[in-house]
Amino acid sequence: MDEFSELENSFNQEVKNVDSPKSLDDLRVAYLGKKGKITNLFAKIKEIAVEERKAFGQKINAIKDLIENKLSELKQKVENDKIAKEISGEEVIDISLPTKKYHGSLHPRTILQKEIEDVFVSMGFTVEDGNEIETEYNNFDSVNVPKNHPARDMQDTFWLDNGQLLKTQTSAAQNRILRKYNGPLKAIFPGRCFRNEELDRSHENTFFQLEGMIVDKDVSVANLIHFMKSMLSEIFKKDIAVRLRPGFFPFVEPGFEMDATCTFCSGKGCPTCKGSGWLELCPCGMIHPNVLINAGIDPEKYSGCAFGLGFDRLVMLKTGLDDIRYLNSGNIKVLSQFGVKD
Ligand code: DAH
Repeated sequence: MDEFSELENSFNQEVKNVDSPKSLDDLRVAYLGKKGKITNLFAKIKEIAVEERKAFGQKINAIKDLIENKLSELKQKVENDKIAKEISGEEVIDISLPTKKYHGSLHPRTILQKEIEDVFVSMGFTVEDGNEIETEYNNFDSVNVPKNHPARDMQDTFWLDNGQLLKTQTSAAQNRILRKYNGPLKAIFPGRCFRNEELDRSHENTFFQLEGMIVDKDVSVANLIHFMKSMLSEIFKKDIAVRLRPGFFPFVEPGFEMDATCTFCSGKGCPTCKGSGWLELCPCGMIHPNVLINAGIDPEKYSGCAFGLGFDRLVMLKTGLDDIRYLNSGNIKVLSQFGVKD
């Protein structure tokens, strides 16, 4: 048997073992690859006597054609077999195999929101959803801001033709949540808010707040302080002191501005806290009786406290970003620095 017949025989033998795209490719490489058997034969031509070269070359080409035809036939067969297996359900996909959890990184808001939710959930709070498009009643009237109240001036927003609006504050969800529980509750509700703002490094027209409410018998300012202090100490991983100053918001009475020890200088005084050692962080107060009455809750029976965390501000404190506009920028170079990567 000459070397061509031998080659053909061994190829025909090996063809029988092809049962997958991988084994097919291995066979192709063994014969037609850079160091394949056919390629080697071509290299031999120069060793052949000149008068025999033509015949030798024709033989190699013939066997090469044969192998190529067979391989493309096999390719079709392997593909058809694969599809047939998929259809018949014979193919097993192991869905328990671990996969990549995240592609890219999480937005710093998402990271902090998850952290804060975890802290509050561990203290027995529920996490509630709020709408982005709201009724005028929910956003304003139900939280004691009637038409023509001066507080509406500070919260100009985007109005829809049907009289609804893009919510200016997470407080817009208060009435719905109060009605849902109709009594004792501990809830937080993070959400996107909108205002018609002049933009600068601390003002955006689209921003996030994180609001919370506690309603029960005998709720007091002490409850409010306790929960806020616990949350901040968990988030900043150090003991954070808080202090209250009087503040006015129509939906709370009394209302406060809650300051926290400056997270950058731990209260010593630095440029971020303008030397005071305190950061203004969270307006809050005792829920106004009108807000409870509007939701059908008897203020003689229940009392409550609420807070409205400027969530984007907290994100900025946590990340050190000094311009709120980064948060909506989609600037991956900036935003991916804090994310969970996989
Ligand atoms: N909704 C207020 C705002 O956007 C923030 C706020 C203040 C929420 C006091 C509260 C609160 O729940 O008690 O300016």
